[in-house]
Amino acid sequence: MHIDILTLFPQVFQGILSAGIFKRAIDQKLVSVSLHNIRDYTQDKHHTVDDYAYGGGAGMVLKPEPIFEAVESIKSGISLNQGGGMLPIILLTPQGRLFSQGVAYELSRCSHLILICGHYEGVDERVREHLVTDEISIGDYVLSGGEPAAMVVIDAVVRLVPGVLGSEASLLDDSHVAGLLEYPQYTRPVEYRGWSVPEVLLSGNHAQIAKWRREQAIQRTLNRRPELLDKANLGLEEKQLVDRLKHS
Ligand code: 6GU
Repeated sequence: MHIDILTLFPQVFQGILSAGIFKRAIDQKLVSVSLHNIRDYTQDKHHTVDDYAYGGGAGMVLKPEPIFEAVESIKSGISLNQGGGMLPIILLTPQGRLFSQGVAYELSRCSHLILICGHYEGVDERVREHLVTDEISIGDYVLSGGEPAAMVVIDAVVRLVPGVLGSEASLLDDSHVAGLLEYPQYTRPVEYRGWSVPEVLLSGNHAQIAKWRREQAIQRTLNRRPELLDKANLGLEEKQLVDRLKHS
């Protein structure tokens, strides 16, 4: 997968790209990331990236020309054999569709993504109408720029690219994958400050352990995010468990 990121602050991505799963994925050539400074695509002497809003009002608006030219320059560099798949051009904006594990899976199937980090009060509407193919928000709050949102998106997407995580099986247990929060996890020591690991996890009975974990995941989801249960894929017994837990 190749990811192009258009931003006014390319340097803020250096930290996350040089550690952990990104470093591994990049070193293993499973993922490559190119950072593009939108300012480098300006043509005027002052390298202007923003301007006052027509119609007035507070705040500056990102100009269309540098963003169009940056995206077109990236697209023109794609060789024909790479151009087969679809190429999402994603604007990170609080007005976008809400990011989720499902959207992360969808994007993880693309071989190439272009992310545009918005800034200031907004982006010229012509970028939305005639350049981007998708707009994503990471939640109902306002960030000063799209950079942290782009980091959230690429982290969630890259860990789903085949081969990036050590064990693919662990993906299936993640919170939100089955529509439930993850069950509690323990490691050694078996007793710490008098707090013990649940007996069932030491039993070696894999069926019992799987059942306990599923029940814990349901209990935890019911306590913390009950609205998720309506969309979760529960069997009949599990639905009965939810009813019992609700009334206990
Ligand atoms: Cl993608 N951008 C900004 N600026 N704020 C946000 C956001 C994105 N998602 C939630 N808030």
